[in-house]
Amino acid sequence: MTNFLQAIAASDPDMYNLIIWEQQRQTTGMEFIASENYQSAAVLHAQSTVFANKYAEWYPGKRYYWWQERTDVMESLAIKRAKKLFRSDHANVQALSGAAANLCIYWWLLQPWDTILWMDLTHWWHLTHGHPVTFISKIFPFVRYGMSDIATWRIDFDAMRALALEHKPAMILAWFSAYPRELDYERFAEIAHEVGAIAMADMSHIGWLIAWWVLKNPLDYWFHVMMTTTHKSLRWPRWALILSKGKVSNPLKKPEDTIENIPTRLDRSVFPGTQWWPHMHTIAGIAVALHEAAQPDFKEYAQQTLRNASAMADEFMCLSYSLVTWWTDNHMIILDFSADDTLNWSIAEKTLDAIGISTSKSTIPDDPNPPFRPSWLRIGTPAMTTRWMKEDEIKIIVWLMHDAFQHCDNHDYLAWLKKEITALSLQFPVPWL
Ligand SMILES: Cc1ncc(COP(=O)(O)O)c(C=O)c1O
Repeated sequence: MTNFLQAIAASDPDMYNLIIWEQQRQTTGMEFIASENYQSAAVLHAQSTVFANKYAEWYPGKRYYWWQERTDVMESLAIKRAKKLFRSDHANVQALSGAAANLCIYWWLLQPWDTILWMDLTHWWHLTHGHPVTFISKIFPFVRYGMSDIATWRIDFDAMRALALEHKPAMILAWFSAYPRELDYERFAEIAHEVGAIAMADMSHIGWLIAWWVLKNPLDYWFHVMMTTTHKSLRWPRWALILSKGKVSNPLKKPEDTIENIPTRLDRSVFPGTQWWPHMHTIAGIAVALHEAAQPDFKEYAQQTLRNASAMADEFMCLSYSLVTWWTDNHMIILDFSADDTLNWSIAEKTLDAIGISTSKSTIPDDPNPPFRPSWLRIGTPAMTTRWMKEDEIKIIVWLMHDAFQHCDNHDYLAWLKKEITALSLQFPVPWL
């Protein structure tokens, strides 16, 4: 990254110092926030290229401005790679973020006041799906399903089907913000098809694990549309992909509002329905990231991330910690402190922060505490797996975390533990930083 950093140092030393400072934090500490990772040098650089200078309104082959030969090839490449990786009929690569992509999906696939069926707001919600503070909640009524019981952490599909038959939703949504298990997509799709609803999955947290069949792909189970952010836990630019099944036609012509035409309806929803100029430099970063994800070592990386999360779950359970859902099928585990008298997420998060480990708090279904003081701590392994830590290191780190929790009031001891963490961390550098 030297060239770019040199240019910034010459132009704006204050900004240069901030970048170097943050770079040091990211390389000496340990990143266990489940939704963070390290973008590769190629992905970072691709976003800082001359594509940032180019206006490219509309879609490849159908632009309004001239000189689109390169932008057309680049965006088409990103679309082709996304379709292959996620096994979809269509990919829209222009959505600015997860929230924007969700808006695009709702806006043109539904009519105002159509009902949407999704997870209970007090369970594993994400605000963008109809929390009362959002614009979306003023347009679409939401009916909510939940977990059958907190002991099994499974969705109550019978209750969900009863809700679907009663309210006839136009869309049924799957996936949430912090759920460590696989979902029964077949059952979701069955209910959606029975009531004529669109089956949509917001895969923001695990979208990348669908590549290479590491986890199940809802599009393989009769879902119509799937959205994934590209930055959470994934090493990609901050962006979103909208992937769908159906017939792709000319986005300049309005197609009929049928389920078959979902891909083109979505294209028209992203542009001009909701957004305007696509950010071509970010699409360049996405194209590079998709190419990296198509390489066999990405499969090994994704599988190792899961093995590391399982090792972490195992080790915490051996130490008698309580885990939400008792196990993990993906890249995250969630520690439950709701029954702990001495530890809560706040003490745990601050203690880990003091020894150089980043994690994040999380709410739980029917959490007795408010969202800013929830009972759980979410820990994810994608970032440290990018640095090629394996099960042995993860087990050592769990012991260091446990040691820190036992001595959370002893600042000298925590300072000593921080040195241990830094020493271990430096043995696993981010290769390109
Ligand atoms: C499930 C889910 N959907 C959508 C979003 C919104 O994504 P973005 O931050 O890219 O707008 C998030 C982000 O936290 C999320 O967890």
